[in-house]
Amino acid sequence: MTRPMLADKVVLVTGAGGGIGRDFALALAREGAKVVVNDLGASVAGEGRDLSRAQGVVDEITAAGGSAIANGDSVADWDSAGRMVTQAVDTYGRIDAVINNAGILRDRFFFNMSLDEWRAVIDVHLNGAFNVSRAAAPHFKAQQSGAYVHMVSTSGLIGNLGQANYSAAKLGIAALSKSIAMDMAKFGVRSNCISPFAFSRMVGSIPTETPDQKERVERLQRMETAKIAPLAVYLVSDQAKQVSGQLFAVRANEIFLMSQIRPLRGMHTAEGWTPQTVADRVMPALKPSFYPLDRSQDVFDWDPV
Ligand code: NAI
Repeated sequence: MTRPMLADKVVLVTGAGGGIGRDFALALAREGAKVVVNDLGASVAGEGRDLSRAQGVVDEITAAGGSAIANGDSVADWDSAGRMVTQAVDTYGRIDAVINNAGILRDRFFFNMSLDEWRAVIDVHLNGAFNVSRAAAPHFKAQQSGAYVHMVSTSGLIGNLGQANYSAAKLGIAALSKSIAMDMAKFGVRSNCISPFAFSRMVGSIPTETPDQKERVERLQRMETAKIAPLAVYLVSDQAKQVSGQLFAVRANEIFLMSQIRPLRGMHTAEGWTPQTVADRVMPALKPSFYPLDRSQDVFDWDPV
């Protein structure tokens, strides 16, 4: 029998009580990893607590002959994020990878967004990814190995309406991942992002009032959550040891490498610019290269394969 890809590895997956995270936990366990299944058991908006969701996934893993433990702490709090990592190390003696997957939505047009809606989403996504990653960092540094995978979104990488909090958090996570990849490369630690497209309860909240919205949701339903897992499992494995600082996207059977921001066009002048010469010379030269206000679905405008 071939050795499973993640034999002896201990992986913490946040928000793994349902959706994409549950499929990560099941796929990791199938490849031999011991899994810490974290989930607060919150609603899509981040309200309430229910440990039975994480425990349910642990039960599925153990019934299939794997090893897993449940954790019901919140990623949004520094101390409770630390407890997840402590629980992994206390139970299994080590931690090899963190998948930052926990998430909530508080969609609202920017001009109506409350401070509470802004903070709640930044706390779970951006601060949550920092809290859990930072808690694992001393262990990764000491053992000179470790892998992070963070879930981002084309809402942040490309754009979407009514998601200023979520988009800002997700693009922030992409920068956090790049920084971790750079700061921890010398310890053999890697960090990558996945931007998933999958039909979970999170996208189940998209309204279906207009024919356009209905059509979009029907298309989304064909994108199964389990299709994201193979790339995540690969990224935490030792076979991915040359892969760090990258942004991937997964949509059903398609896997993409996403571009990263680089200068597109430049103008320079020996005498320095004035506001008027910017208007007269710079903008006409740069304007043909401007990006339209594309939403994610304007860029990914073909049916998933
Ligand atoms: P989901 O709502 O099914 O799963 C998110 C899980 O996170 C839930 O089980 C929830 O209880 C848990 N959670 C929420 N707050 C938490 C906290 N403070 N601490 C610990 N756990 C918490 O959503 P889905 O779709 O599976 O999303 C997984 C990740 O993928 C999220 O980060 C999401 O933003 C991202 N994503 C999903 C997309 C999709 O198409 N489904 C698109 C782009 C990104």
